[in-house]
Order: sequence, then C-alpha cells, then structure tokens
Amino acid sequence: MNEETPDAKNRQLENDRTDSEGPLTTETGVRVEDTDNSLSAGERGPTLLEDFHVREKITHFDHERIPERVVHARGAGAYGHFTPYEGLSDLTAAHFLSDPGVTTPVFVRFSTVAGSRGSADTVRDVRGFAVKFYTEQGNYDLVGNNMPVFFIQDGVKFPDFVHAVKPEPHNEIPQAQSAHDTLWDFVGLQPEATHMMMWLMSDRAIPRSYRTMQGFGVHTFRFVNDRGQGTFVKFHWKPLLGTHSLVWDEAQRIQGKDPDYNRRDLWEAIERGQYPEWELGVQLVPEENEHDFDFDLLDPTKLIPEEQVPVRPVGRMVLDRNPDNFFAETEQVAFHTANVVPGIDFTNDPLLQARNFSYLDTQLLRLGGSNFQQIPVNRPVAEVSNNQRDGFSQHRVHRGQTSYYPNSLGGGCPALADEGVYRHYTEKVEGAKVRKRAESFKDHYSQARLFYNSLADWERDHLVAAFRFELGKCEELAVRQREVANLVNVDHGLAVAVAEGVGVEPPEDPGAAGHGDSSPALSQANTAFG
Ligand code: HEM
Repeated sequence: MNEETPDAKNRQLENDRTDSEGPLTTETGVRVEDTDNSLSAGERGPTLLEDFHVREKITHFDHERIPERVVHARGAGAYGHFTPYEGLSDLTAAHFLSDPGVTTPVFVRFSTVAGSRGSADTVRDVRGFAVKFYTEQGNYDLVGNNMPVFFIQDGVKFPDFVHAVKPEPHNEIPQAQSAHDTLWDFVGLQPEATHMMMWLMSDRAIPRSYRTMQGFGVHTFRFVNDRGQGTFVKFHWKPLLGTHSLVWDEAQRIQGKDPDYNRRDLWEAIERGQYPEWELGVQLVPEENEHDFDFDLLDPTKLIPEEQVPVRPVGRMVLDRNPDNFFAETEQVAFHTANVVPGIDFTNDPLLQARNFSYLDTQLLRLGGSNFQQIPVNRPVAEVSNNQRDGFSQHRVHRGQTSYYPNSLGGGCPALADEGVYRHYTEKVEGAKVRKRAESFKDHYSQARLFYNSLADWERDHLVAAFRFELGKCEELAVRQREVANLVNVDHGLAVAVAEGVGVEPPEDPGAAGHGDSSPALSQANTAFG
C-alpha cells in the first residue's frame, strides 16, 4: 500500500521495521569497539575464544540460510489490496467478498516450480500465483498457479511427480527445465498428466511478466453462506494488462542476459507506480448441478469450460508496495490451502486434500517450528487468541495462570465466540474405505484435445516446437515413443508432427470416432472473461 493510504497490514508492519541506524552493537546491545580485527594474543598470534563479537558475528552468519521451499523455491512477492465489486453474501459468509466498502490487504508471491532459489526466471515451467488475504476474519490463502489444471489427480503421487520434474538426483541436471528423461518417463506413464503437459508445452509456460499472467485456484472449492448453503466455485485471476507470453527463443536468450527478468519487471513496475492489477472471477456451480458435467468437478486435471459456466468478475486486486526485505517477507511467507475463513470450504478433490496436509507440514520444517505464523509477513491483522503455547522462537509473552479449556479460574484463557466462527459445510459423506478412483476421473484426453483445438495455428506451431525441443532432449527413445503414443489420443496430426521432430516412429491414425473432432474452443485458453 502506498503511503497516502496505509492499510491495516502496513500499519502492523511498522513496528517490525528496523533501519539499522546508530552505533554498531552485538545482538545484546553492547557497542562494538572494532569489527575488522579479531582479538588475538599478540599482533601475530592466535584468535582468542573470548572474543564474543567474533563468535557471534560468524555464528549468526553461519546460520543465515534456511531450507528453500521443496517446490516453488524461486519467487518474487509484493503487497497490495483487494476490493470486491459487489456483495456476495448470498453465496459466501466471507466478509472480504461481501462488502464493496471493505478493502483487504494482500501479499502475493509468484514463483516457478522446479528450479532452485537461484535459477532463471524465464524457464518453461508452471508459475505459482499465491495470494494471502489478511481479512478481518483471519488469513485466507488462495494458493494457485497460472494454469487452470494440474498434472496429477491424487496428492499421493505428488512426491513421485516432483522427484521426476526436479533435477535428476545423480547429477542435479537439468536445473529448472522440462527437458529431461525423468519428467517424460513419469508423464508418459501417467496419462492423466497429458492435459497439463499441453499447457506446459504451450506459450503459457513462458509468461512475459508476472503482471501479464492469469491465475487459477485450480481445484473446485466451496462457498458457504450464512445459512450453511454451499456452492461450488472455481477461482480465476485475470491481469488487466492482458495475458502475454514470451516466445521460446526470446525466453532462452533472456535466461542468459537477465535471469531475474520477471522478478525485476515486477519490482520496477511497482517502484515506477505502474501498479499491476488483476480481476478476481468465479465460476459458480450450484450443489445440485454437481453431476451435470462430462468430467468430475473433483478432478483437478479438468477445467470447467467457460462456455458451460461463464466467469463472473467479483473484485479487483492491486499490487502497490514492494517488500522491505526479501528474506523476511518473500522467503518467510507461508501459504497454505487450509488457511480458510468462514464462507470458503474445501471439496473432496483428492489433490486438494493432500495439499491441506502438506503445506503446514513442510513449513514446520522450513520455518523452524510451530510459531511461524508470528513472523510479520504471516501474522494476521485479525486478533489471535488461543491456548497454544511455547515452542521454538515464541515471540508472544502470554500472561495469566491458565492455558487450557475449559477452565473456571479465568486468567487469560479465551472463550468460544458466539458468532463469526468457522463452520465446515455439513456435507454428507458415506462409502467403503477403498484405494480406487471413480470412473468419472478416467477420461484423460478430451480436455487435452479441447485445449489443442482452441489454439490458433501459430500457437500450435509453438506447441509442436516445444514438444520437439523438450521431448527431443530425452535420451531414452522408448520414453519418447510412449509420449507420442499418448499424444495420438489427443490429436493424430500433433502426434505425427512431434514424432517426426524427435526421431521416433509416427503413430498409426487410430481413426477412432472422437479423435481430432472439432469441439468448441475453450475461451479459457485464449481470452479474457465475459
Ligand atoms: C508450494 C501451488 C499441488 C505441496 C506451492 C506454491 C504454490 C503452489 C503457488 C508456492 C507458495 C509460495 O509462494 O510460498 C500448487 C498448486 C497445486 C499444488 C496450484 C495443484 C493444484 C501441490 C500438492 C502438494 C503441494 C499436491 C503436496 C501434496 C507444496 C509444497 C510447497 C508448495 C510442500 C512448498 C510450501 C512452502 O515451503 O512454503 N504450491 N501446488 N503442492 N506446494 Fe503446491
């Protein structure tokens, strides 16, 4: 937020900012005499252990690094705010969506997925688009990507998928690229990845700027209103500057000339006062229409075509302040799909359910224990009061005798609120315990084909060139052949074009009904809402 209109989060952070002014001191506030010469026994003698300044300075430095994120390690963030266009209280109890008079502070982190913290920005990869809303009802995180679907249907496959997509374990090559054997081996063996691979080989995977990137919540979530009624919802972010990509040759050159290209662009635009904006849109499906689609709403490898359910614009987000400190804010921010507020709930999407476990678990390690919500960038503007105590790096000084519920002694223990509480949607659940996915998750190709059919000729040329480039780097011919066999289920012409480019047998035309049919183009692939 700019200085004219300081918001709640900005005001809160005021107490945490440190300008490092004044005389040099130790961490305990003792003024330091000399920070260039260690205390030694004689001018040419050994350094003395009693030099607490040397020990503290070096020890602190030795401990400066924390683990990078296990995925999405490289990113850039900014603060801003969100304002809804209209009240959505008929749909959701979430206040930040219910009152156009309420402006909610946000922190957004954009990221690549596969590369390490120091990798280049303009690689072919998915981009993360994670938004933390500091609402008056608590923090809500919309942890999305710049593509509307995902590689796998069930989170139990995520460790396998990430092991395949990350640099290979024996030599840590390649850094942040889609061109390697393990990736193609995995996705060829998991046909459910085909739709997402089409997006990954498209120009969507090389965005020109974070400011010109769409965002998607991917999963079907649930709005819940004050009466407990649910509505399925998919979230979309649309950049007001339009959606723009680089071309591959340009992206590769930029990797060498300016590996910080996207990060720098975001930072400099905000410094110039050219604040990037996005419109939040929702696709809404009434509970009773859950089964009206030829795919499963719980399947994260599928989108809802906008021809079937239009996107309704509901609000606007502006990013207008760069962080003060990359590590303190962008590195330590902790997003989590399970950070929800009243009015927003989950569905049984098996990928989402695994994510709801994974983020907190990894952050307990990455951020050193259970008190990371107290880190300034994570701290809610809503009041926090509970009986959780102690742990590493506890910054709160809890007062009072008691820290349990129920208690009759008083002494600082919070009582349960009568209103404004988070209530889970009362979904009826029944069924045998099984390790088996419903038949409605089994069609892996129709939407991949819809995507292909939605592309202009030049976009198809780029897609084929990307498949040839990336798959052509895979050394194992059998793996190349398997991926081509997958693609023939999307489009025979595509599969032949790729086969010819990567030196494997062009597949037979299966000639089966449904192949290459001209399904309606997906506006989501190309255009804006409305
Ligand atoms: C990090 C998105 C699937 C585990 C992230 C981040 C984003 C993201 C945007 C970066 C957050 C940040 O900027 O700090 C997504 C999307 C997914 C998906 C859209 C699918 C629709 C999964 C799954 C799992 C997972 C299935 C695990 C089962 C993680 C972990 C991190 C992460 C562990 C690192 C978090 C941290 O260290 O703070 N994801 N992800 N993700 N994701 Fe996902």
